[in-house]
Amino acid sequence: MSQTKEVPLSGAYYGPSIPPQQPPHQRRRGGCVLCTFLTVITTIIVALGIAALVLWLAVRPEVKFYVVSAELTQFDLTNGNTLNYNLSLNMAVRNPNKKIGIYYDRLDAVASYEGERFGWENVPRFYQGHKNTTNLQVTFQGQQLILLNQFEINQFNQEKNNRFFNIDVKLYSRIRFKIGSLKTKRVKPDVECKLWIPLAGNGTFSRRFESTRCDLDF
Ligand SMILES: *[C@@H]1O[C@H](CO)[C@@H](O)[C@H](O)[C@H]1NC(C)=O
Ligand SMILES: *[C@@H]1O[C@H](CO)[C@@H](O)[C@H](O)[C@H]1NC(C)=O
Ligand SMILES: *[C@@H]1O[C@H](CO)[C@@H](O)[C@H](O)[C@H]1NC(C)=O
Repeated sequence: MSQTKEVPLSGAYYGPSIPPQQPPHQRRRGGCVLCTFLTVITTIIVALGIAALVLWLAVRPEVKFYVVSAELTQFDLTNGNTLNYNLSLNMAVRNPNKKIGIYYDRLDAVASYEGERFGWENVPRFYQGHKNTTNLQVTFQGQQLILLNQFEINQFNQEKNNRFFNIDVKLYSRIRFKIGSLKTKRVKPDVECKLWIPLAGNGTFSRRFESTRCDLDF
C-alpha cells in the first residue's frame, strides 16, 4: 500500500540524481576490487598465521640447557663491595627435536650474586642440527663493584666459610627454529641456571659441583 505511493515519490525524488550517481558507482566498483583483494590478502595472512600456530603447537620445539661443570677459582669480596671473580662453566645445549634445527643468533650470559650482576659474556652465534648437543665454555673473570647490604655480606661470609656459593647465571637468548626449509621468527627465551658452586682449591674438604638443568622461560 505504501509502496505504490512511494514508488512515484522516490522515482521523482531520486530520478534526477541518477546521472551524477553513476560515476561514484563506477568508482565504488573499482574500490571493491581493491576491497576484495585486501580481504583475500588478509584472509591468506590470517590463515598462514593460524597454520604456523598449529604447526608450532604440533611440533612444539624444545631446547635444553645444562651446566655440566663449574670451576670457581676466585670469589673474593674486598671492602664489602668489590668482587674479584674467576668462574668458568661448561654448558651443554641440547636440541632434542627430531626434525628441527636451531639458530642461536644471540646468547648473552650474565652472572649474578644476591641479585647483583658481576659478569657478562657473549657466546658466538651458531647453528645446531637436530638431535645434537653443543658444548659451550663460558668464563667470567674480572673485578666488579657490587652493592650488598649487611645481611647479604653476612651471607657471603657464611658461604665463603662453607666454600660453596649460590650463583645465578642467566642467558638472554635470541633463537630461531628451522623446520624443513622454513625458519620461524625469533623467540627470546630466558634461560636461568641456579648454581651451587664449590670454591676450588681445598680438594679434600669440598663437595663436587652437580650438573644442573637450567629453567627456560619462553
Ligand atoms: C681463572 O681460572 C682458570 C681456571 O678455571 C685459570 O686457568 C686462569 O688462569 C684464571 N685466571 C686468572 C686471571 O686468574
Ligand atoms: C652435531 O653437530 C656437529 C657439528 O655440526 C656434527 O659434526 C655432528 O655430526 C652432529 N651430530 C649429530 C648426532 O648429528
Ligand atoms: C684448606 O682447608 C684447611 C682447613 O679448612 C685450611 O686450613 C687451609 O688454609 C685451606 N687451604 C687453602 C689453600 O685454602
